[in-house]
Amino acid sequence: MASMDNVCDITIFGGHGDLAFRKLMPALYHLSNDGYLSFSSRIITVARNDITNDEHIELVRSKLIEFIGESVFNQEKFERFKSQLHVVTIDFDDEKSYKGLKELLGAFPSRERVNYLSTAPDFFATICKMLKNWDLVTDVSRVVLEKPIGRDLESSRAINSEVLKYFEEKQIYRIDHYLGKDTVQNIMALRFSNRIFMPLWDANNIDHVQITVAESVGVEGRWGYYDQYGAMRDMIQNHLMQLLCLIAMEPPCSLDADSVRDEKVKVLRSLRPMSAADIERKTVRAQYAKGSIDGQPVPGYREGEGMEHSNTETFAALRVDIDNWRWNGVPFYLRSGKRMHQRNSEIVIQFKSVPHSIFANQGSGISQNKLVISLQPKESIQLKLMNKVPGLSDQMRLQQVDLELNSRINSTRKSDAYERLLLDVIRSNPTLFMRLDEVEAAWKWADVILAGWAENIIPMKSYQAGTDGPSASIQLVVQDGVSWNDE
Ligand code: BG6
Repeated sequence: MASMDNVCDITIFGGHGDLAFRKLMPALYHLSNDGYLSFSSRIITVARNDITNDEHIELVRSKLIEFIGESVFNQEKFERFKSQLHVVTIDFDDEKSYKGLKELLGAFPSRERVNYLSTAPDFFATICKMLKNWDLVTDVSRVVLEKPIGRDLESSRAINSEVLKYFEEKQIYRIDHYLGKDTVQNIMALRFSNRIFMPLWDANNIDHVQITVAESVGVEGRWGYYDQYGAMRDMIQNHLMQLLCLIAMEPPCSLDADSVRDEKVKVLRSLRPMSAADIERKTVRAQYAKGSIDGQPVPGYREGEGMEHSNTETFAALRVDIDNWRWNGVPFYLRSGKRMHQRNSEIVIQFKSVPHSIFANQGSGISQNKLVISLQPKESIQLKLMNKVPGLSDQMRLQQVDLELNSRINSTRKSDAYERLLLDVIRSNPTLFMRLDEVEAAWKWADVILAGWAENIIPMKSYQAGTDGPSASIQLVVQDGVSWNDE
């Protein structure tokens, strides 16, 4: 059991939305049961429609069962958890409707407060303003903003500057849930606690890096949202960029939030801006057409609700160059797509070949070493090495073998990224959250590509649902003599 000293009031705006039920409530349920959140803490759901406390509790119960599974749900634990649940109804634009929240929070005026804005970004400013007007923002208040923050640099700046009128930067937690994934945090451990990687982690030794986040799911009913954003804004500008930062950053001087974030922002500022010719040569955008996944027919993106004329990309692939000493000449290939043949997120660090092979006349080639960090569906880290095939053969035959770097403890329940991140907000630790300058640097780089796409510098390609994306994505790497790690 962890320490129970984290007493705070957590208010979830958009508390009856998909994210709240799918991720936030299960995370809080586990944090509370595992002793990371004191039982005196309150979880206040902000609903948009009238609902009684009892109805709300029943709704939370059924959604918990749906999302964590009947076998994990524990009624006895829920009996205790439910006493932490409260609900208020608020119409975000109607100042008077915040009265109930004021009464609830006012009962413990000096308590730590977390305001989780699980709403569309259009509401961020209004909600923060109303909280301020009702005197609900204190020195120990925090606000959590769900991504995406804006659609480009300009809109992101507008949203952030509004929120900054009511909360200080140190009170703002911009979430990118990829940073809460255990394997993603493990990248730092791997890089900065193992001497063996230190001399190898640069352009002298690394040929290229691949970052893939492939999903077999589609937009999961979020047509209105997704069609405005697409793969570049929904995944590349944030999740994949953060992964790239963790791979490419210099060692921070400590684990404190600003040291880590200073190093990440340097990477983002070193991304080579793309010219029109670069966009043509180094980027691919595509939309899925009908196909099949796991033997089940899947309709095309344009067959979705109101999507007949949509020109939104559901797949993006890019070659990214980082202009600094460490990475000069090392391409980072990024790709992400929906409705691909399987869920697979991984980072591949491909090392250069040995300078000279003494095995050339032994009938075996030498494959380049690879470090493969798999994030999902399975979490694993493998180092691919060459090894002798055992036996008495005249020739020294070689084979590639995997060195499994992590023997993770599998017996305990694996915590979700949102548990880690919510706990960090509760403990006021912003290390795994994006600072304003990071978000802006990522947008600044992505905006150029998005503008080029809007001008149709490259055509929108199509790929069949259930495949690895369009052939142009293969061409993107093949033109550099590389192939995707699709083992
Ligand atoms: C979200 C995106 O941020 O991440 C979704 O909005 C995407 O479109 C999801 O499906 C992927 O997260 P995970 O953790 O399932 O890889």
